[in-house]
Amino acid sequence: MTGAGEILRLDRVRKSFGHVHALRSASLIVREGEVVALLGDNGAGKSTLIKAISGVHPFDGGEIHVRGRRATIRNARDSMALGIETIHQDTSLAPDLSIARNLFLGREPVKLPWLGVFAPLDFADLRQAAAALLRRVGISKKLDADVLVNTLSGGERQSIAISRAMQFAAKLIILDEPTNNLGVEETHGVLRFVREVKAAGHSVLLITHNIHHVFQVADRIVVMRRGEVVAERNVADTDLLSVEALIMGVDVADLAVDAKAH
Ligand SMILES: Nc1ncnc2c1ncn2[C@@H]1O[C@H](COP(=O)(O)OP(=O)(O)OP(=O)(O)O)[C@@H](O)[C@H]1O
Ligand SMILES: [Mg+2]
Repeated sequence: MTGAGEILRLDRVRKSFGHVHALRSASLIVREGEVVALLGDNGAGKSTLIKAISGVHPFDGGEIHVRGRRATIRNARDSMALGIETIHQDTSLAPDLSIARNLFLGREPVKLPWLGVFAPLDFADLRQAAAALLRRVGISKKLDADVLVNTLSGGERQSIAISRAMQFAAKLIILDEPTNNLGVEETHGVLRFVREVKAAGHSVLLITHNIHHVFQVADRIVVMRRGEVVAERNVADTDLLSVEALIMGVDVADLAVDAKAH
């Protein structure tokens, strides 16, 4: 059974790397138009979870449902075809291509579309579309679309990856620590982007270690510990200290004592 309005449902998914059980049994739901923050300490299994959803590596077991239907995700193409766009912690850009090529990788405008994979790229169109996108995003306004990605800083690369996700208006956008390495202005750009995505009726699964950001943009939190989902809360019904306690697996009263001591 899957409920109405669910964009993604994971049911007891598992993933091991040799004898490391990165995901033991993780279940979660993301609803339409919802921003869910996936939280947990280092090594909790967050990136492993989203890498399986985005097709980097498949789950070993458990079920995935996308918009109410059982789905099989074997690779990145399957994931994108289901309307899922992912920005990984280690951004997956092609460093030797220009910003413009990266923004449209695999979906470039072509001159003679009937030639299929042999159709020549329409570089003028590509450059124009990329420049328009960079202007719209605002977080990358100083960048020229012709510049090669390998000349950019980590934060600038992150901005390009986020612009890519925006361009294709995916149904579900997954962001794995998107504000890492970003400056103040770019960080606000990302948070604004998350709000825009939600306002447009799309869903976001956001992984972050910054709990302040969670309270700024998320509707719900899902907490992972040692490969399992251990708690779930509506953001409106909780507070910063309680969330920290859930992540650490301690009693909130203990943390409150620590906070007073400082
Ligand atoms: N490709 C891999 N091969 C072997 N072990 C892996 C691999 N990827 C992840 N792991 C292990 O799986 C566990 C979960 O890792 P994961 O990257 O999912 O954690 P995370 O919650 O994203 O942590 P962080 O907050 O540090 O990014 C860790 O013990 C990690 O060492
Ligand atoms: Mg991670």
